[in-house]
Order: sequence, then structure tokens, then C-alpha cells
Amino acid sequence: MNALVEPLLRNSPSQLSATATTPRRRDARGRFAGAGGSAQRRERVLFVASEMADFIKAGGLGDVAASLPRALRSGCDVRVLIPGYPAVLERLPHLQPVGVIAPRAGLPECVLACTEQGDGLPIYVLLNAALFEREGSPYVDEQGAEWPDNALRFATLAHAAAEIAAGHGDLEWSPQLLHLNDWPGALAAAYVRWNGTDVSTLLTIHNLAYQGLFPSALAPVLGVPAAHAHELDFHGRLSFLRGGIVHATRLNTVSLRYAEQITDERDGCGLHGLLAQRAERGHLSGIVNGIDESWDPRSDHHLRAHFSADQISGRAENARSVRETFRLHPGTGPLFAVVSRLVHQKGIDITCEVAPQIIAAGGQLVIIGGGEPAVEQQVRELAQRYPGQVGAWIGFEERLARQMFAGADFLLMPSRFEPCGLSQMYAQRFGCLPIAHATGGLVDTVDDGVTGFLFEQATADGMRRCVERAMRTWRLPVLLKAMRRAAMLRPSGWKLAGGRYLDLYRQAIGAAA
Ligand code: ADP
Ligand code: GLC
Repeated sequence: MNALVEPLLRNSPSQLSATATTPRRRDARGRFAGAGGSAQRRERVLFVASEMADFIKAGGLGDVAASLPRALRSGCDVRVLIPGYPAVLERLPHLQPVGVIAPRAGLPECVLACTEQGDGLPIYVLLNAALFEREGSPYVDEQGAEWPDNALRFATLAHAAAEIAAGHGDLEWSPQLLHLNDWPGALAAAYVRWNGTDVSTLLTIHNLAYQGLFPSALAPVLGVPAAHAHELDFHGRLSFLRGGIVHATRLNTVSLRYAEQITDERDGCGLHGLLAQRAERGHLSGIVNGIDESWDPRSDHHLRAHFSADQISGRAENARSVRETFRLHPGTGPLFAVVSRLVHQKGIDITCEVAPQIIAAGGQLVIIGGGEPAVEQQVRELAQRYPGQVGAWIGFEERLARQMFAGADFLLMPSRFEPCGLSQMYAQRFGCLPIAHATGGLVDTVDDGVTGFLFEQATADGMRRCVERAMRTWRLPVLLKAMRRAAMLRPSGWKLAGGRYLDLYRQAIGAAA
């Protein structure tokens, strides 16, 4: 297994920690420094994101939107388009309006502004106070309820991308390819086609389970031509994702295994037939995500103590600090962690079922996450039942999450399905071994018995046996050390994925030519 001999971080080219960048200005006409000259000769790509970790993040998509464009910059002229949420506007005080996006049917006019991040990454921000300037996550309000106007909000984002692709909006720049992500951007592929614009589109499916489903009566408001409304139809509702799947020049998802799984009825969320057709024509591929180089236990400023694959002792200090934060008793057994959205997909109920056995065997468990109220409640009850042995924190806290990866022995990920998963890669990089259901990207990134542990059935029994295996390994220090080392040295940077995306961009652009 070559993971055992790969040098740490060899494949980690992404430039800067996303959060460490400060915005730069561009010239008065909205042109970006470096956008001329050689940049003009490279593929021009607009990366359309509904979240980006520089500003706001609801899950792994935010991480990918921050890392992937940066990993691509040496190969193409890539720019990001993101809605002007308050978190974006606060961090980008030097935004300058550079264009106007015309209304379409019931979609309102928007202003387009732009800036450059400190590392030079160009960002376009779509401004419309009524649609985007509200607190909460990009998708839900502070109570966790979906924003009632999400169809309008993200159709407006998609329409703006299609307008920029058509050369409208006064930008003096237009992309050859729109890189769309998940349902919030997917409709752009359809608008481009309906408008007759000669631009390629790539739709990356990060999670097929979220389709952007809305009442079909909204079609005229969203500017869906009557003759084309059936292209979005999903059992009587409009599916934004379906529109993207039908119309994008190319489709990909975020792991090889998930790319196979979504063409099958079991994991295809009702879209498997369509996806299988596109796969047969060679239009659907899988590219495993990477993680950026801010995830480095030798230098991460969030950690209590630094460590490396060769000098691991700092992990103990992080473990002590995590136990203290979660008010656990000082422990001598293994520490298990969950860092996750608390939703059905992630199998948290399975973890809760297995937890008593972990405690009985001398382990302790710490959980951080937020999401569905019922799952949050289940987690709270577990912590109340085992004070001093199980700790839970409902919320989103990057520093603590990083400390947990750096201090825990094992990360639990019994996801029912997992398109890619980033948490397991962060854990590996920090020497915390994933115990994961063998599905999707978890299969592509966890080598069973080498860089973590896999189990075949997403059931408490399946997971229990796997936890027992992990516990036995924990008692064998030489094996444990070798596995930790293998996990930490596993190449998981963006270089490989970045190269594959560039190939795919060229393929998609070529397909339209
Ligand atoms: P998903 O996108 O399905 O939520 P991923 O594993 O791809 O799953 O990405 C989740 C991201 O969110 C990772 O960066 C993970 O570390 C982070 N994360 C999840 N929950 C929390 C939390 N409560 N606090 C901090 N980070 C979290
Ligand atoms: C989605 C998936 C997750 C993936 C992430 C980034 O949120 O649930 O598996 O890692 O997108 O691609």
C-alpha cells in the first residue's frame, strides 16, 4: 500500500488557507489584475457557488468552493460567483458594482459587484438585498426552516450565471464554461440552453438527495419556457437538479463509488434512469475531493499542540484539551469523535445505538454538530445519559472540530450514503482513524485496516463489529502507530482532483465547440 510510504502533504498544492485571505481591489472598470495577458489564453471558467468557506459554510460544499478554484488557478482563468449574503458583504468591504443582471419573468434585477481575494482569486458577488441579505444559513433560517423563497433566490443566482455566460452584465469578461454546484446552481445549465447561448456547463453533484424541489406553478415566475417545463418535472414538482442533469454538457460527482451508486435505483433518488443514460454516453464521471493544506497538524493554529507523522506525541495534549472542553472524566481508553451535520444521511442514530457498547468497553465519545432538531435531541439525550463519558456540543465550531480530529483516536462516520465526505480525510490527516460505512467516497478514501476501518452494512450490528476491530487495534500500539502514520501520509491534496477537473473542463468546452 503506497500510502505507507507517501511523504506527508506531497500532493497539497492549494495556495492559501481560505480564511487567511484579505480582499484586494480591482480597477475602476471591474477588470481583475492579471485577468489580461496570459489569463486570456486560458480556459475561462465561472465557478458558481451557493456557499464558500471564505465567507459562509453549511457543509463540505463550502470547503470545496474555497479550495477547488484556488487549486485550478494555475491552469485556468477561474472566477467565483456567490450571492451577497451578509457574511460575504461584511468580509468584502471594497466591493464595487460592475454590472447589472436584467430581470427574467419574476426574477428581479440584481447588481453584480466584484473584488479579488488577497491571494488574487476573483470573486463576483450577486447583490439583491431582498433575496440575499438575511441572517441564517444560505438555505434555512435560524430555526432551521427552509427560506420560503429559495426557488426565487437560487433561480436568480442561476439566471445571473447564464447572463454572464451570454456576455451580458457589462463585465468585459465572459466564461467558456459554467461550473455549477448542486441544485442551487443547476438551473443555469437549463437557462443557457433555453437562451441558445453557446457556452458549456459542468454540473457537479455533491449530494443527489437535495434536489431543489418546488411547486410546478412557479415555472412561469422562474422564466421556465412553457414548452420546456417538463424537463424539470419530478413527480409533479420542479426539480432544479433535474434541469441541470438534463442540460449540463457534462456531469460529475465527488467520488468514483458515488458516481456508480447514483445510476442505481437504491441511491439514485429517482434520477438514476436519467443519470444512467448520461453515464452510458460518457457524460458522468467521479472525481474524489481533496482537502487544502491548512489541514496540517504541524502548523494548524487551532490546535493545542502540534505534531507530525514522525512525532505524534502532541496528540495527547489535544485529547486532554478535548476531554476538558466536553467535561469528560480523564480517560485512559480510546476517544471516539463525531464531527457532522446531524441529519438522517449521517447515521447519527446508529452511532447513538452503538454508544453504550463503546462506553462499556472503556471508550469515551464526543460529538459536535447541528441539523435536524430530532437528531440533535437524540444526541443531547445520549450525553445526559452518560455524563463524563459522552460529551455533545450542538453548533458549528471550526476550532473545536479541528481539535477533535487532532485528539480523538477514531472518527465515527456510519453515513447511510456519502457522496465524498471530507471529515474522514481531515481526521486521517490529523491521525484520527475513521470508522466508516463502506459507501460512496468513504470507500474511495478509507483503505480498510490501513488508513481506517470500513463496515458493509449501515446498521448498529455492522458498526459494532467494526468498533470492536478498532478497539482491538487500539490495544496493539505498533499496529495503531502504523495505521495512524499511513492515514496521515495518505495523499489527499487538491493537485490530483484539480488536474482531473481541468481535463473535464477541456472536455466539456470541446464538446460544445
Ligand atoms: P457534508 O458536506 O455532507 O456535511 P463533509 O464531510 O463533506 O459532509 O463536510 C462537512 C464539513 O463540515 C467538514 O469540513 C466538517 O469538518 C465540517 N463540520 C461538520 N459539522 C461541523 C461542526 N459542528 N463544527 C465544525 N465543523 C463541522
Ligand atoms: C456534500 C456531501 C459530502 C461531500 C460534500 C463536498 O455535502 O454530502 O459527502 O463531501 O458535499 O463535495
